[in-house]
Amino acid sequence: MKKLMVGNWKMNGSLDANASLIGALQQDASTWHCDVAVCAPSVYLAQLHTLLAGGRIALGAQDLSAHEGGAYTGEVSAAMLKDFGVRYCIVGHSERRQYHQESDADVAVKAQRALAAGITPIVCVGETLAQREAGQTEEAVKRQLAAVVHTNGHCISEIVLAYEPVWAIGTGKTATPEEAQHVHHVLRAQLQAASQHADRVHILYGGSMNAANAASLLAQPDIDGGLIGGAALQASAFLSMIAAAH
Ligand code: 13P
Repeated sequence: MKKLMVGNWKMNGSLDANASLIGALQQDASTWHCDVAVCAPSVYLAQLHTLLAGGRIALGAQDLSAHEGGAYTGEVSAAMLKDFGVRYCIVGHSERRQYHQESDADVAVKAQRALAAGITPIVCVGETLAQREAGQTEEAVKRQLAAVVHTNGHCISEIVLAYEPVWAIGTGKTATPEEAQHVHHVLRAQLQAASQHADRVHILYGGSMNAANAASLLAQPDIDGGLIGGAALQASAFLSMIAAAH
């Protein structure tokens, strides 16, 4: 399957910085063998919708409301994202689970809202350091994915899944390729039990993926791309990871 490399900009960027980063990435686009997307803060989606028009980089958002519309101050609906050409939306990132108390059920409903609007949810799962040390990695990620499977039924083959061990995010610590592959394999089996089309689901790895470790992670049979934070903010680093994805 063609790999998918996604930059998660988190709460970074400015009108000027976004334009220069996208400009630098697009110069190289004719050489890419994978699909590429960037997930930007909501306020910049309009700018990026224009900047990315007709190009190879797909637009993504970082979160969406679990509600369809109405009196939910501060929230952004799936339909609004769709208005700005959003193709992907991250749901259930560990920073939202941790700092905004998003539950497994909230994440499952957000994935459902995205799918209903024709947006591909990038569903994030991952264990904390305490869970890993207690030998609960598989149990933790399976519980998180099970909620999304339960709510979305056969549509589960339309999602993108991202395994992001919480202890590896922004820490410079990465799961080894073998550790990551093991969890990806567990997740693939869970998808296969839910859908006969599970083999088409991209399972991305995220957590301190960088130019030095991308190739060995992407060489694993069940690692179908990356969800990259810090290193996706530098054109040269993101481009070398894209080059490693073929
Ligand atoms: P880092 O690549 O900065 O570790 O972030 C990973 C991540 O959270 C992507 O969603």
